[in-house]
Amino acid sequence: MKIPQLEDLQDISGRNVLVRCDFNVPLAAGSIKDDLRIRSALPTLQFLTEAGAKVTACSHLGRPMDGPDPALMLDPVREYLDSLLPGVTLLENLRFEPGEVTNDPAFIQRLVTGHDAFVNDAFGASHREHASVVGPPEYLPSAAGRLLAREVQVLSSLRESPRRPFVAVLGGAKVSDKLGVIESLLDVVDELLVGGGMCFTFLAARGAYVGESLLETDFLENCSQLLDSGAPIRLPTDLTILGPGGRIGDPSSGGEVRQAGTSVPDGWMGLDIGPGTAADFSERIHSAGTVLWNGPMGVFEDPRFAAGTRTVAQAVAESRGFTVVGGGDSAAATRQFGFAKQMDHVSTGGGAALEFFEYGDLPGLAALRRNS
Ligand code: 3PG
Ligand code: MG
Repeated sequence: MKIPQLEDLQDISGRNVLVRCDFNVPLAAGSIKDDLRIRSALPTLQFLTEAGAKVTACSHLGRPMDGPDPALMLDPVREYLDSLLPGVTLLENLRFEPGEVTNDPAFIQRLVTGHDAFVNDAFGASHREHASVVGPPEYLPSAAGRLLAREVQVLSSLRESPRRPFVAVLGGAKVSDKLGVIESLLDVVDELLVGGGMCFTFLAARGAYVGESLLETDFLENCSQLLDSGAPIRLPTDLTILGPGGRIGDPSSGGEVRQAGTSVPDGWMGLDIGPGTAADFSERIHSAGTVLWNGPMGVFEDPRFAAGTRTVAQAVAESRGFTVVGGGDSAAATRQFGFAKQMDHVSTGGGAALEFFEYGDLPGLAALRRNS
């Protein structure tokens, strides 16, 4: 895919350049819990400042519902960014302005006024048709930043020419969110390993009793059809389950934790893949030529249900193949368990990475191409 690069911007010395970043980072009590998205933007910001541009960065943070929310101000990010690379201005949370998500032309005008060029480096937000993502290229000479370009290059190579076997590992809560991506993955991958909350709708479609586990009954038919089609989908063969009275994320609440097969008794809840499944998935991941992992295998924030995700993270880290971790929770798990450095690529996008995989394009990329 040809998109304009930083080098294509002419005469930026002394000019005002607006850079859309994705600084939507997890915050706890005002401190940044994961700085991947900030560090990943530095090559672009550095390139521009070294070229003599006056750089203004902008980003959203969280999903403020009714205008400005003090808890979602970008001050902690601004302070941190300033410690890494002084001299970059950072605007306030774009989503404090209703025109951002509604893609309001008047808001786009306000954003671009005073700027001579635009750079999109917000890969993680490029699936959103929001003002700051798709608007500025209509008015300003525009380019992809380094991070955006690298993400597109890695994910395109996975779609177009993966080393085989190509094993995808999918987890996360809901199968309904991922049906589209499951179908497009199945066109490309040699095997799709399914864990996380979404596995229960598949297991139920095969006739397993899933107790109180996450189940999307409206999607049983879709899952049945996929399984009947002979698609290379591999499901868990055992589970870690929590008994009546136990609460997720609260080990002191009691509730028995047990290993089970794929039938979950009444009142019990499946919250992680079991050790047999973790070993089976690991073996396949180890010998893959390409691995794409998106979504945890269980509720890894609770130590009782972290083993499946940890084992899979380790297998991806140790795989001989080219390994890509697709954003969000799996990237957080990768870092929490200390494996991030061993991955070939940790994507800064969750939804964006999956959407790119599904469609081979994103609104933010199309906007850059359309106006180049
Ligand atoms: C993300 O974290 O997925 C991106 O920053 C996009 O955020 P959004 O899902 O709130 O649009
Ligand atoms: Mg999201």
